[in-house]
Amino acid sequence: MGYDRVRRRDPAVADALDGERARQNDTLAMIASENHVSQTVMEAQSSELTNNYAEGYPGGRYYGGCEYADDVEQLAIDRAKELWGADHVNVQPHSGSQANMGVYLAMLEPGDKILSLDLTHGGHLSHGHPANFAGQVYDVSQYHVDPDTGYIDYEAMREKAEEIKPDIIVSGFSAYPRDVDWERFQAAADAVGAYHVADIAHTTGLVAAGVHSSPVGIADFVTGSTHKTIRSGRGGIIMCDEEHADDVDSAVFPGAQGGPLLHNIAGKAVGFGEALEPGFQDYAEQVVANAAALGERLAEHGLELVSGGTDTHLVLVDLRPSHPDTTGKEVEEALEDAGIVLNANTVPGESRSAFNPSGIRAGTPALTTRGFDEAACREVADLIVEVVDDPDDGAVRHRVRDRVDELTDRYPLYDESEP
Ligand SMILES: Cc1ncc(COP(=O)(O)O)c(C=O)c1O
Repeated sequence: MGYDRVRRRDPAVADALDGERARQNDTLAMIASENHVSQTVMEAQSSELTNNYAEGYPGGRYYGGCEYADDVEQLAIDRAKELWGADHVNVQPHSGSQANMGVYLAMLEPGDKILSLDLTHGGHLSHGHPANFAGQVYDVSQYHVDPDTGYIDYEAMREKAEEIKPDIIVSGFSAYPRDVDWERFQAAADAVGAYHVADIAHTTGLVAAGVHSSPVGIADFVTGSTHKTIRSGRGGIIMCDEEHADDVDSAVFPGAQGGPLLHNIAGKAVGFGEALEPGFQDYAEQVVANAAALGERLAEHGLELVSGGTDTHLVLVDLRPSHPDTTGKEVEEALEDAGIVLNANTVPGESRSAFNPSGIRAGTPALTTRGFDEAACREVADLIVEVVDDPDDGAVRHRVRDRVDELTDRYPLYDESEP
């Protein structure tokens, strides 16, 4: 896909688009929430559906001209049902955060209580951080991971639920490398008459492929983003049983949003279709195998992994034991200079700040899309450690950058021969 028209009409934007394409091709995308969607998904996302106003749902819109919008949205819904096995699916949330907002609006009144994982322990802003609408509108309490093991302290979460009697318990995380016992969350919610929302924003693809346990059929609501491990059009999704379908649908529209982003929903439909193909299972298995290889190699070099390893697509490194004077932000910046893009992250028991935390989070979904295998991920781990050991040394960063160039040449992005 070229940007020929944009180049002719708007070279300033074309420069930025070309720059971003080159940046993605020439660097290693290890932000755990990122991926590279197929060119087919991108083509669908840039379709004429961006012009269409389709307030409402397939078969019941507030405007005319929605015949093809209906087709596309229904395809996305049907494919999502097949992928995750949900009774009811809403594919309209503009993002994962909007999906959470949809469930809160459907089930809560302002001032109601949410119980969720502390952001510094791996939770997400939309689970009730004071800087987010959820923290401003609802009364939020938090549970934590066990500081000794890095695993969720399920018993303390249950006790907290008994104590505060929340209206909703949120599970599902941004920076938690382990499988999740969805039944324990649901049991804790049931015991106090709360709803349980499982936010699988990060693991949608792993859950669809069966390489991460599924909350669908267990949790009252399942929310997610559609552009992370599931590798489809950018946006959000909500799944629930028929009992809550109408509440969820009217909370998303007209409750939280106006017209749906039908062009993105076309990208969701295409991406979900790709995820139903047999190759996606191999992809998801490789994502997890790659994260395990990356983590093992980092640990061999003496870095400490929160929880001691990973079951998922990401590793979380606590730099304090091995590199007490080095912050996550310093490492993030030095690695970016060397062509490896990941993010500084808080760690359980954080002793610095959210802006300059003590950890780094690294994910394998995007590298795996490029074709990286375990051996390549071990190479990447070696490169990360070289920079972590010496973030201020420009020669080290330069040497690593050369090795990154070799890797990006070996695993090119967006092969023109892609069907
Ligand atoms: C657990 C969790 N929920 C929600 C979101 C928000 O997703 P979005 O960026 O699509 O709003 C994220 C983003 O990474 C996340 O990690």
